[in-house]
Amino acid sequence: MIPFIDLQAQRVRLNGKIEAAVAEAVVGGAWVMGPQVRQFEADLAAFGKAKHALGCANGTDALALPLMAWDIKAGDAVFVPSFTFAATAEVVPWFGAEPVFVDVDPVTYNIDPAKLAAAIEAIKVEGRLTPRAVIAVDLFGQPADYPAIKAVCDQHSLKLISDSAQGFGCTINGQHPLTWA
Ligand SMILES: Cc1ncc(COP(=O)(O)O)c(C=O)c1O
Repeated sequence: MIPFIDLQAQRVRLNGKIEAAVAEAVVGGAWVMGPQVRQFEADLAAFGKAKHALGCANGTDALALPLMAWDIKAGDAVFVPSFTFAATAEVVPWFGAEPVFVDVDPVTYNIDPAKLAAAIEAIKVEGRLTPRAVIAVDLFGQPADYPAIKAVCDQHSLKLISDSAQGFGCTINGQHPLTWA
């Protein structure tokens, strides 16, 4: 059997640091919004050159939070790539909205901006749903085509989320996805 991923390789590379950090959190006992969370947020914002970074429970919640903030709801369409981890689309019906699957670029496997534009037009013509947002995914660490995707979003006044769960640290000409999303 060929193992899909060797998580122990990374753990061994960080030898001792993870155990020490977990022990420190246990001893500190500040389980919610403790100093580790604040440090993480500050470090992540600096890493991504972002104004703000917010810690949350997992990658799925990170997608849900902006959808909640923007009041995405029943009758809304959120455009997602047809090839991604399930969470990208799974969060959309949490709020009664519908994921609209957009085909991916056969070379990068990331959402195809031209197909995105066509899907938005089709949803508008159909008239059943209101286009509200796009979730682009940086699959396997490769950034989506944000300049082209952002142009399509701006044309249709859509919000843009970058699902960088697989792409932390990926850049386009030195710019992190949050430059566009
Ligand atoms: C592209 C993508 N989005 C979202 C998620 C969800 O992250 P989590 O499992 O932490 O909820 C994952 C997890 O693998 C992912 O690969």
